[in-house]
Amino acid sequence: MGENEFEYDLENRIVAPEFAGDDSDIEYSLRPRTLSEYIGQEKAKENLSVYIEAAKKRGEALDHVLLYGPPGLGKTTLSNIIANELGVNIRVTSGPAIEKPGDLAALLTNLNQNDVLFIDEIHRLSRSVEEVLYPAMEDYALDIIIGKGPSARSIRIDLPKFTLIGATTRAGQLSAPLRDRFGVLLRLELYNQEQLSEIVYRSAGILGIECDRNGAMELARRSRGTPRIANRLLKRVRDFAQVMGDGIITHDIANEALNRLDIDSLGLDTIDRRMLNTIIKVYNGGPVGLDTLAAAIGEEAVTLEDVYEPYLMQIGFLSRTSRGRCVTVQAYEHLGIKYNAENKNQTQNEQLTLDI
Ligand SMILES: Nc1ncnc2c1ncn2[C@@H]1O[C@H](COP(=O)(O)OP(=O)(O)O)[C@@H](O)[C@H]1O
Ligand SMILES: [Mg+2]
Repeated sequence: MGENEFEYDLENRIVAPEFAGDDSDIEYSLRPRTLSEYIGQEKAKENLSVYIEAAKKRGEALDHVLLYGPPGLGKTTLSNIIANELGVNIRVTSGPAIEKPGDLAALLTNLNQNDVLFIDEIHRLSRSVEEVLYPAMEDYALDIIIGKGPSARSIRIDLPKFTLIGATTRAGQLSAPLRDRFGVLLRLELYNQEQLSEIVYRSAGILGIECDRNGAMELARRSRGTPRIANRLLKRVRDFAQVMGDGIITHDIANEALNRLDIDSLGLDTIDRRMLNTIIKVYNGGPVGLDTLAAAIGEEAVTLEDVYEPYLMQIGFLSRTSRGRCVTVQAYEHLGIKYNAENKNQTQNEQLTLDI
């Protein structure tokens, strides 16, 4: 592999916030188990702790909870914490895994009183499965049709009271009837640098990696607001620390290692830069429609929206307008491209000859 080894290798993108097979060895051990270990998301935590306390006092199931936000922010972690704090069992499944209404019925009838059923990627449930979920959520009941044709009749089976926790990166794709049946809606936010550095510091402690505060801050600065990425960078940079230094992750080691991994001072990798460059050079800084942009850089529109855009918008590099995506002056500055209003009037042809 050449020096562009990281460039177009989407599968192994180091700063991808989605779960990668590579993460499984550390992800489990690093998962906080209690609300007090869970760093950040203060608003969500405060509300949850009240609801959990109240449900426990009443000896009842917690209201159904919908967790939404970009990948890698701690939705799965928080679901497990909720069950743990409630002192109940959690059953884990996902939207695409529940193929038939019968699959869901089997899961539901196996729950114990007050248990948690966690459905990841809940926006991917099929319509027919969703319909079984409505009475289950609302009345703790299953409606089952027996027989066919004119003699068919529906019988109702009571379910134990349970808590459904749904997680999704795309709350907007949830059908309204499903969304309305959640009593608690919690949106997870990207983390700030202090919170991420705390997460890195905590993870280093668990993994037995020596990392000083400045090293942790540097990793945090380049983790795109995402704990999963912070943990992954920690793991990668540890190798550099062992080879280049005495095993301790300092600011300098972190800086050097991340530069070598082509992750810049803000956590952008070559793919982010290519996306911004494309908008600037091909579309004159925007606006450009999401689908057009996706086609231009060979990515799916959904991936752009879920994975790239949240962070680029959070750092103020990208804005969404009614006419499409626009790159901001700050992004031009970061990329070292001169921004001038005149450029904006160049002809399309002229720009297309520019190298992207
Ligand atoms: N608030 C947090 N505090 C500490 N670590 C966290 C936190 N949120 C997430 N993590 C870490 O990030 C990893 C990814 O979180 P996860 O819950 O799988 O994200 P999601 O389900 O939203 O994609 C977890 O293994 C955990 O170690
Ligand atoms: Mg998850």
